[in-house]
Amino acid sequence: MSHLTEPQVQKVTAPAIRAKKGRAQIVALTAYDYPSARLVDEAGFDLILVGDSLANTVLGYDSTLPVTLDEMISATRAVKRAVKRALVVGDMPFGSYQDRTERAVKSAIRFVKEGGAEAVKIEGGTNRAEIVKAIVSAEVPVMGHIGLRPQSLLRMGGYRVQGKSIDAARELIEDALALERAGAFAVVLEGIPAEISRIITERISIPTIGIGAGAHCDGQILVFTDLLGLTFGHKAKFVRQYTDLKKIIAGALARFAGDVSARRFPAENESYHLPEGVVVSPDEEEPSSMPPLGPIN
Ligand code: KIV
Repeated sequence: MSHLTEPQVQKVTAPAIRAKKGRAQIVALTAYDYPSARLVDEAGFDLILVGDSLANTVLGYDSTLPVTLDEMISATRAVKRAVKRALVVGDMPFGSYQDRTERAVKSAIRFVKEGGAEAVKIEGGTNRAEIVKAIVSAEVPVMGHIGLRPQSLLRMGGYRVQGKSIDAARELIEDALALERAGAFAVVLEGIPAEISRIITERISIPTIGIGAGAHCDGQILVFTDLLGLTFGHKAKFVRQYTDLKKIIAGALARFAGDVSARRFPAENESYHLPEGVVVSPDEEEPSSMPPLGPIN
């Protein structure tokens, strides 16, 4: 009998995320490729969002608007190859669901069939409830996203904290309730006052996952590159940066460049050699002006 079986991992599912409400905090992060997803999964995170923040963090755009469905699906496929345990959620990009319910369902199904996503996220509340319902009816779990919605950048006129007036706060609470009724398994609360996310978290039966929404949510999510200090440009107030990878990487690159310039790289043990006794002699065909090659070992 073999004792070499791999330890079984308990795969996180959308219902398992939902069931965490009131029991344990949900720990979530974005990832965009194989190495980032592998590190996040091996660190034991519950949920990995292949966020459309891929546009800013990896592709160099200045908003999430340009990233395409094909680009998102390709990134999701890479993430999925790396993940054994966490729930993999594909973020539906701008233009892949806003105009028609049929397009939304088709896009969600592409995420599952081609990307291997186990759920999708869409931005919006009451105004997207019908779309959420249709995607859930097509058997794809949906995570909502309300508050600061980066895909509404043009309409909002910038990235601004939402829900700061009584009316706006009421609207957010309505949005969360609409998503719950539509069958979402969780909802991201982004950029809203902690007092409002506390009310929402208490009022709905599905978990809230906060980003810039205070400490009362049922879980927290951050962007991979923000957490690790790999983001170029503005750092939001809610980001806690746990290390400075930019500095670490810049140091390593400078050392490599210095070693190459000074001929310290590669060293003997970083080079291949012919087996002992093998001698390279000049080819008969070679011009006689070439000096004969000696043993290379
Ligand atoms: O795309 C993204 O990174 C997000 C956040 C909620 C983390 O949507």
